[in-house]
Amino acid sequence: MRFIQAKDYEDMSRIAADIIAAQVILKPDSVLGLATGSSPEGIYRKLIESYRKGELDFGRATSINLDEYKGLDGENSQSYRYYMDHQLFDFINIDKKRTFVPDGTIEDAEEACRIYDGIIRDNGPVTLQLLGIGCNGHIGFNEPAEEFSTGTHCVDLAESTISANARFFDSIEDVPRQAITMGIGSIMQAEKILLIASGKSKAKAIKEAFRGKITPKVPASILQLHKDVIVVGDVEAFSEMELKQ
Ligand code: GLP
Repeated sequence: MRFIQAKDYEDMSRIAADIIAAQVILKPDSVLGLATGSSPEGIYRKLIESYRKGELDFGRATSINLDEYKGLDGENSQSYRYYMDHQLFDFINIDKKRTFVPDGTIEDAEEACRIYDGIIRDNGPVTLQLLGIGCNGHIGFNEPAEEFSTGTHCVDLAESTISANARFFDSIEDVPRQAITMGIGSIMQAEKILLIASGKSKAKAIKEAFRGKITPKVPASILQLHKDVIVVGDVEAFSEMELKQ
């Protein structure tokens, strides 16, 4: 596991975008595991800039996203499909047919999960998985639990996640209570993992995930067992954890 300390959000975004860019340059048909939330926005802006300068070509890439709110369709501006289209896909030359996000509109959640596991099986494994981290240590929407999940499943969101994500909605009542998320088992199958974290609000989760014991109560702690993880965080995100020089 490697830790890279960035100065601030901008610096974190630059470093992480460079890692993704290098991946796409070295292996143009990479399968990118992508994430949503505020943390990756700066990365996506930088990837778009590089694409516009002619430095990057996503023509052969595939993307598989981590999660989606249950009940929201891609036209809904709070859905993760909408986020991905508007933050990245619409501005680069990735083939939209090869960009995958769980379908939150399928009534039967188990069916939606089965379909997504099929998509992961047919298009994976993920070459490089980008992850943010929730303040409670969640990855994707894998909330603290009694055991680690394996495949795609429907989760009841934790109260802390609902309030943290309420900032994207008109009111907290509008935040969906459930989501479809890739399981921890699938995340762990990615060849490489790049986790990003910015700000003081992530410091406790980062410390518990990477310096604490491995427990499903801190879902990101499982990453300690993965063979190829890079954590890029800013000074504030690493402020509760000592980094070896
Ligand atoms: C959401 C997403 C996660 C993301 C987390 C942190 O719950 N499902 O994939 O990592 O929030 O988001 P942010 O980067 O906005 O802090």
